Amino acid sequence: MIDKIKEHIADVESFNAKTKDEIEAFRIKYLGKKGLLNEFFAEFRNVPNEEKKAFGQAINELKTAAQEKVNALKEELENNEEEKGVYGDLTRPAEPVEIGSRHPISLVKNQITEIFSNIGFNVSEGPEMEDDWHNFTALNLPEYHPARDMQDTFFIQTDPDILLRTHTSSVQVRYMEENKPPIRTISPGRVFRNEAISARSHCIFHQVEGLYIDKNVSFADMKQTILYFTKQLFGKSKIRLRPSYFPFTEPSAEVDVYWGLETETDYRITKGTGWLEIMGCGMVDPNVLRNCNIDPQEYSGFAFGMGIERIAMLLYQIEDIRMFYENDLRFLEQFKSAL
Ligand code: PHE
Repeated sequence: MIDKIKEHIADVESFNAKTKDEIEAFRIKYLGKKGLLNEFFAEFRNVPNEEKKAFGQAINELKTAAQEKVNALKEELENNEEEKGVYGDLTRPAEPVEIGSRHPISLVKNQITEIFSNIGFNVSEGPEMEDDWHNFTALNLPEYHPARDMQDTFFIQTDPDILLRTHTSSVQVRYMEENKPPIRTISPGRVFRNEAISARSHCIFHQVEGLYIDKNVSFADMKQTILYFTKQLFGKSKIRLRPSYFPFTEPSAEVDVYWGLETETDYRITKGTGWLEIMGCGMVDPNVLRNCNIDPQEYSGFAFGMGIERIAMLLYQIEDIRMFYENDLRFLEQFKSAL
């Protein structure tokens, strides 16, 4: 009997197969339920006691040899298939890959940028860490000017000349310094103000500011440009300009868009007036043009600036500005369908 097993071991070791079916037949022959190994194991009972040990060792040896052979042949076959470029079923569906979404701030920024680029504005960018000149002084806000208090500033360490920009008007100064009119540019970007964080304001937020400078640019040009913008972005065609003050523009105005009073939400967000404030604007102060080497006798222009968070909150009915920065997926995933 043991000799018979030894013969099988030799057979197993010299066995070779090229196809899946051959390997499977081999496996069934030895390792299958009704295979040779189980037959030998059944035989075990009838073996005389003194031979039991040797017999047991022999069938275990056969079992290991058969298993190893099957594994080795299978592996070889797989390797061959890989070399031939056969990776199983090529028509099977791919693993699903989760698609991310743009952040609502980016969505709104892109929308605003596109609306203005359609009427010839380009996009300009500048540093978030600024010097006093570009953030304040060039914008008609000299040292000790009381209007500096309108924008509470983060300074870098102890150097009062270096700060985190409080608005992207600083980019407009840089743009005017480097480019000759006609100028049509919008400057989106992140800005910083030392303000208490609440549902309505944050110390870090985003702005888009616009600048248009050419010969004979008038207040009416500004009004029409802003009206075009509100029509495109909100689908609302009524705006009003309220007199306001900014050091870098004269005259200055605050722009309200007529939102309407159709729903309960309209009442709540407009405090029952139907009007919503969306941006500041004005005719660029001649001092600012002069500071940037543009002759105010020859050129005039307008500028405007708005907070992206505020616009996004209006468009998407978001109640708390802090949601933009928490990176909660349950919030962000709601913007998946938007481009
Ligand atoms: N820079 C102003 C602000 O941050 C916005 C503004 C820009 C107002 C241009 C008028 C003209 O509040």
